[in-house]
Amino acid sequence: MTKTIAEITGRPRHKVAVVLGSGLGAAGGGPVEGDPIPYGEIEGMPASTVVGHEGALYSVELEGVPTLLFSGRVHLYEGHDARTVTRWVSLAVGSGCDTIILTNAAGGLHHDLEVGAPYLISDQLNLTGTSPLIGPHDDRGPRFPSMVDLYDPKLRALAREVDPSLAEGVYAGLTGPAYETPAEIRALAAMGADFVGMSTVLEAMMARYLGARVLGLSVVTNLGAGLTPNEPNHEEVARIGNLAAGRVQRLLEGVIPLL
Ligand code: HPA
Repeated sequence: MTKTIAEITGRPRHKVAVVLGSGLGAAGGGPVEGDPIPYGEIEGMPASTVVGHEGALYSVELEGVPTLLFSGRVHLYEGHDARTVTRWVSLAVGSGCDTIILTNAAGGLHHDLEVGAPYLISDQLNLTGTSPLIGPHDDRGPRFPSMVDLYDPKLRALAREVDPSLAEGVYAGLTGPAYETPAEIRALAAMGADFVGMSTVLEAMMARYLGARVLGLSVVTNLGAGLTPNEPNHEEVARIGNLAAGRVQRLLEGVIPLL
């Protein structure tokens, strides 16, 4: 029998929800504590099937702020639709969260980016060909929501107060699961993107639709295909993500109390 987040955690409301991307969760020594709640035990949550994605929720107090940490996410490439991959955002906002923090591992689209470093997401290209907002309209948000300042400028400024070295860039979201061809990497860079990955964009749209603020962080785990002799591979993505987990954790612990 599944239960709601409030029933399982005993906390009627949370303030902030964070999703920890590849290598950034419990496995990477990320900011998790307490008992993991497997996604399968949460009403409405699909289970994650990807190595490096734990698929468990933690309810924690970060500096007194009740926070939901989603360690691992589900993806379009697992065969889920756009509504399902964003279900956790709906559940988090329904649990009181007014701020959604999206973290991910991403491929870098040019040589100026530092592999292993976190970057703020300033904007996005949704290249998945779908949207979680397709379908019958409900009254939780506008039918035609604006996506201007999707990644809240005030939250980005707060993050830079905590870590002034944070640079920012545009995240392109594709379905995966194949990594890009070198031609696709060149095309994405020409389109104005700085990072590429297989998540995040739909979650940001859902959060905006529901009226929550969004902060996005990409850890560049590799340079895109064709930019180096190394071909992208999941083990390396998870390994570099793991190495960055501590820095991401410190950033989150610095930012969340300021929200
Ligand atoms: N491409 C797409 N997604 C990714 C990559 C990449 O190079 N690295 C980590 N996630």
